[in-house]
Amino acid sequence: MREMKDLSLQSTAELNNGVKIPLLGLGTYLAAGDRCYTAIRHAIKIGYRHIDTAAMYENEVEIGKAISQCDEPREEIFVTTKLWNSDHGYEKAKAAFEASLERLGLEYIDLYLIHWPVQELRLDSWRALEELYKEGKCKAIGVSNYMERHLEELLKEAKVVPVVNQVEFSPYLYLKELQDYCMAKKIWIQAYSPLTKGRMLNDPPLMEVAKKNQKSTAQILIRWCLQRDTIVLPKSANHNNISENMEIYNFEISNDDMKSLDAFHRNMRTTWDPSTAP
Ligand SMILES: NC(=O)c1ccc[n+]([C@@H]2O[C@H](COP(=O)([O-])OP(=O)(O)OC[C@H]3O[C@@H](n4cnc5c(N)ncnc54)[C@H](OP(=O)(O)O)[C@@H]3O)[C@@H](O)[C@H]2O)c1
Repeated sequence: MREMKDLSLQSTAELNNGVKIPLLGLGTYLAAGDRCYTAIRHAIKIGYRHIDTAAMYENEVEIGKAISQCDEPREEIFVTTKLWNSDHGYEKAKAAFEASLERLGLEYIDLYLIHWPVQELRLDSWRALEELYKEGKCKAIGVSNYMERHLEELLKEAKVVPVVNQVEFSPYLYLKELQDYCMAKKIWIQAYSPLTKGRMLNDPPLMEVAKKNQKSTAQILIRWCLQRDTIVLPKSANHNNISENMEIYNFEISNDDMKSLDAFHRNMRTTWDPSTAP
């Protein structure tokens, strides 16, 4: 269990290769164009140091521009991007990585992920990621939407153990067994759609916990993810929400409230469902 005392916006998790990753990252799915650019500028200005994007989000150019124009040195910002499904296979994965790097305008990527376990090609893609990692073009490599069977298959072949598995994770989708499995292998869970894409923010039992803690429902969901040992990626392109979502370090959810939140679990997915991926 993570030590919750003294957590701050600067807090990091240590990945299995020693690289440190900020616990709070800004999600960017559906953030586009100028709105995305100004959201990233705002987020970095107020203290976010971790940005999650993907080739599929079609916003790498804006994100790269915002990073290059901010006052923070490049090495202070942790950038994740992902290999899209149509780019799987050894050669294609390498080319897709270079294309992401070019769009971002960066010299290296902090974390490169396989976005989805595309059958038959995913092991070839992983081999490409391992080489990119060994060449120093990305500081860490990982996967996303991998269920236990996908990880078992990968770990039998892999020379490099993925540092994270990015999956949908919230009190409404508490994947405890998958998390236990990953933690035993030293793979951190990154929680995506932690705000249930906004769908459950007015759920009365959640509103009750929020009221009791004098926090917003979004803050409770993000804090729950932190207290359940994940790296959490709430998305917002709205400046007020971006600010609100980082105000999660000045309170702690009690054990009783954490247990109540755990019990919200109902296998609710807001995105795609990798449990059916062969
Ligand atoms: N690997 C994958 O397959 C995968 C899949 C999905 C997502 N992700 C990553 O995870 C990130 C987060 O997931 P997500 O984008 O699906 O959903 P999310 O973070 O659960 O929810 C985002 C939604 O909540 C709203 N919101 C944010 N803060 C709020 C607040 N304080 N109060 C009220 N509403 C708020 C946002 O609107 P505003 O923008 O207007 O604030 C947006 O509509 C993505 O952006 C992406 O980086 C990865």
